[in-house]
Amino acid sequence: MTTSHIFTCLLIAYLSILGRARDVPTNTYTTLGHGDATPTGSNFTFVCDPKRYSSLGLDMSKFPFCDKSLPYDVRASDLVKQMTLSEKVLQLGNTNRGVPRLGLPKYEWWSEALHGVSNVGPGTFFDDLVPSSTSFPTVITSTASFNESLWKTIGQAVSTEARAMYNLGRAGLTYWSPNINVVRDPRWGRAIETPGEDPFVVGKYAANYVRGLQDVEGSEDFKDLNSRPLKVSSCCKHYAAYDVDNWKGIVRESYDARVAEQDMVETFLRPFEMCIKEGDVSSIMCSYNRVNGIPTCADPKLLNQTIRGDWDLHGYIVSDCDSIDVLVNRHHWLGDTNEDAVAHTLKAGTYVEASVQQGKVREAEIDKSLKYLYIVLLRLGFFDGIPQYTSLGKKDICSDEHVELAREAAREGTVLLKNIDQTLPLDADKIKTLAVIGPHANATAAMIGNYAGVPCKIVTPLDALSAYGEVDYKVGCGEMKCRNDSLIFPAMQAAEKADATIIVAGIDLSIEAESLDREDLLLPGFQTQLIKQVADAAKGPVILVLFSAGGLDIGFAKNNKKIGGILWVGYPGEKGGLAIADVIFGKYNPGGRLPLTWHEASYTDMLPMTSMPLRPVDSLGYPGRTYKFFNGSTVYPFACGLSYTKFNYTLKSAVRSTHIKLNKFQHCYGIKYREESHIPRPCPSVRIDDMDCKERINFEVEVKNVGDRDGSEVVVVYSKPPEGIEATHIKQVIGFQRVFVPAGGSKQLKFALNVCNSLRVVDYNAYSVLPSGGHTIVIGDDIISFPVHVNFSS
Ligand SMILES: *[C@@H]1O[C@H](CO)[C@@H](O)[C@H](O)[C@H]1NC(C)=O
Ligand SMILES: *[C@@H]1O[C@H](CO)[C@@H](O)[C@H](O)[C@H]1NC(C)=O
Ligand SMILES: *[C@@H]1O[C@H](CO)[C@@H](O)[C@H](O)[C@H]1NC(C)=O
Ligand SMILES: *[C@@H]1O[C@H](CO)[C@@H](O)[C@H](O)[C@H]1NC(C)=O
Ligand SMILES: *[C@@H]1O[C@H](CO)[C@@H](O)[C@H](O)[C@H]1NC(C)=O
Ligand SMILES: *[C@@H]1O[C@H](CO)[C@@H](O)[C@H](O)[C@H]1NC(C)=O
Ligand SMILES: *[C@@H]1O[C@H](CO)[C@@H](O)[C@H](O)[C@H]1NC(C)=O
Repeated sequence: MTTSHIFTCLLIAYLSILGRARDVPTNTYTTLGHGDATPTGSNFTFVCDPKRYSSLGLDMSKFPFCDKSLPYDVRASDLVKQMTLSEKVLQLGNTNRGVPRLGLPKYEWWSEALHGVSNVGPGTFFDDLVPSSTSFPTVITSTASFNESLWKTIGQAVSTEARAMYNLGRAGLTYWSPNINVVRDPRWGRAIETPGEDPFVVGKYAANYVRGLQDVEGSEDFKDLNSRPLKVSSCCKHYAAYDVDNWKGIVRESYDARVAEQDMVETFLRPFEMCIKEGDVSSIMCSYNRVNGIPTCADPKLLNQTIRGDWDLHGYIVSDCDSIDVLVNRHHWLGDTNEDAVAHTLKAGTYVEASVQQGKVREAEIDKSLKYLYIVLLRLGFFDGIPQYTSLGKKDICSDEHVELAREAAREGTVLLKNIDQTLPLDADKIKTLAVIGPHANATAAMIGNYAGVPCKIVTPLDALSAYGEVDYKVGCGEMKCRNDSLIFPAMQAAEKADATIIVAGIDLSIEAESLDREDLLLPGFQTQLIKQVADAAKGPVILVLFSAGGLDIGFAKNNKKIGGILWVGYPGEKGGLAIADVIFGKYNPGGRLPLTWHEASYTDMLPMTSMPLRPVDSLGYPGRTYKFFNGSTVYPFACGLSYTKFNYTLKSAVRSTHIKLNKFQHCYGIKYREESHIPRPCPSVRIDDMDCKERINFEVEVKNVGDRDGSEVVVVYSKPPEGIEATHIKQVIGFQRVFVPAGGSKQLKFALNVCNSLRVVDYNAYSVLPSGGHTIVIGDDIISFPVHVNFSS
């Protein structure tokens, strides 16, 4: 195919267009704006610098887009108006060519910063001047902290490093992170990049991380959100219903997700809605897949109507890289030619010269897309600079503060899954020799996962554990997949002699990754045998530390009395080794919770990965998905996690009813009840888009630390809908707080949760409704609960 001119991420929804996202060599860096300067960038400060214009032999006063007294909107329009059609077309791919005639420099839109500044994407690179950046834990690990302020603080650290690298000519200002697709199926290969299976938790993670990346201190409450300054620009992706990568030959580029509107509203779109409304993100990326036959990047309803119309995005929409190529060559959508495909994406809100010339795209649509882009660059200070960031440089990258934050995040994200008879923490005074076993014991690259950069300095589990005793390291397996048992015996011998045995096992990117979904939920090869035999042989206590994003069926270890403690660390980032040692030897008391359900291995035999419904499909015998709809047994449930201390909850105060008076424009709405539970209700529910939704559920919980160690507790609050509503969720997370409580102390936590957001049910017609009747608020694992009664009157 002669499609090479459109291999790019079209920035538009046209802009995102034209670039190859992951396959592009990371060193094809394009300068940010030095005209033809080298990418050192140290001389380039901002576009509308009079000295720069005079050095280019241009008169800046002839270009109103450089007039700081004008609104961004007017400046961006002026810039676009001054371009010819061919010049415009050159600005639509991720690698913008600039317009030398106007003094507009090149700009590379594509950089990534999922958990640290990454060198994936041509906008960012590392070299002798900037050799590395802080590699924070992967998102699945940080999410397990359930600490909103941690998520924001990491975003702030990452954007500081990004801005410093931009000043040094090593990075862009626009980052296509985070990935906020809900983990619908435990086999999904990209769970590592995401905040897990609950749409509300995913949305909260998105809003906090985006605010950390984007917000310029002091201007969070800017009035005109279309001109609000940006530290760097963030992008919530991949919109939407994208969560099949490559499962039994079904690949994302040609996958057509058949999704009911109910699931769309309730699960797949909600994090994006929160990312825009609560995070005020400046970009959304549409995904490779189709939804109900329509490629997402060409769907005017999903893009223009929902993102811009309903949610009021202040920013641009970009297509995932190659998605135009994907549209033409993989989806064969509407028998499109490349020009048609461009036309559809542009029109959908997401192109090219030929399509304009063939009358398939109005030039005005390109203008509109370009304006969105330039407004974002204006907000980033690309044209005028942002004084408070000009001093950022080398000292701000891999700073002690950031590296310590990476360690803290890994500690907060560690989940204690088992601890019989307080095996953990180990007493450093009593342990002289340690057997450190397993394919991840000396993990390096595995700790930082994908979309990583070059880490400042990795500390492996082995390095960190060596500080606590004499270590006998035996890898136990030839490689992570552990294809034979030839190395098990030496590992058993080490365990036989040591005062304590630490086995570091699990999976990595060769099992779960982008373009690679999992085949099963088990540990690979002989790992299970390694763990059992080493545990059997061990003289001292045995601790199992697991690396993974998705759940592992480790029922054998859960039930094995010789394994005293189990820790899950996800993929814990460059300081993961220190965090593991801190937790094992009690320098840190773990408080993380699993961000997704750990299913039994048989779960994946019950339903294909391509079945999109979240609810059970009784006719096919498919169980429900995620804790919200699956009622069967699990290895470990969503949000589970232990501590070295004990917490006790007491409900201090709670409002138990809400009475809502309806005006004459607000109407009762019928919802379906199961036959047997039908109690006639005068006003079964009211649609949320009909209501003001000012009411709150206020309550206070006292969290007492009744054990003898300081610790942090995550209080998760759920709501359960009134009995008998047909096909609704079992429960849903409506709030959470992580709190530190010293031993013997207590803390009061206040919750003021919006009634509509917290008690809503999405019905079959995809309306969000507030049902009347007795809802239940559940705190923690059914530790306390109380009813909230909703009634309506006219
Ligand atoms: C950048 O500045 C240095 C020193 O001031 C100068 O030698 C060099 O030519 C400049 N480079 C560009 C591309 O302007
Ligand atoms: C949550 O994260 C913040 C920011 O990193 C940290 O200061 C705080 O201690 C954390 N809270 C708990 C309870 O761990
Ligand atoms: C996008 O939506 C707005 C209303 O929200 C409408 O006026 C406009 O015509 C739509 N554009 C396209 C290309 O559908
Ligand atoms: C641990 O891994 C590092 C990096 O791959 C390697 O240099 C080192 O030799 C390994 N340590 C042991 C004890 O094998
Ligand atoms: C077992 O695995 C190791 C390490 O991967 C390899 O070197 C060895 O040849 C394998 N042995 C057999 C019998 O396959
Ligand atoms: C669990 O869900 C299945 C599938 O919908 C249903 O058949 C079963 O009755 C439910 N079991 C319980 C205990 O609710
Ligand atoms: C925990 O709280 C409950 C009431 O909420 C109380 O009955 C129980 O005694 C408390 N336990 C401890 C150890 O404080």
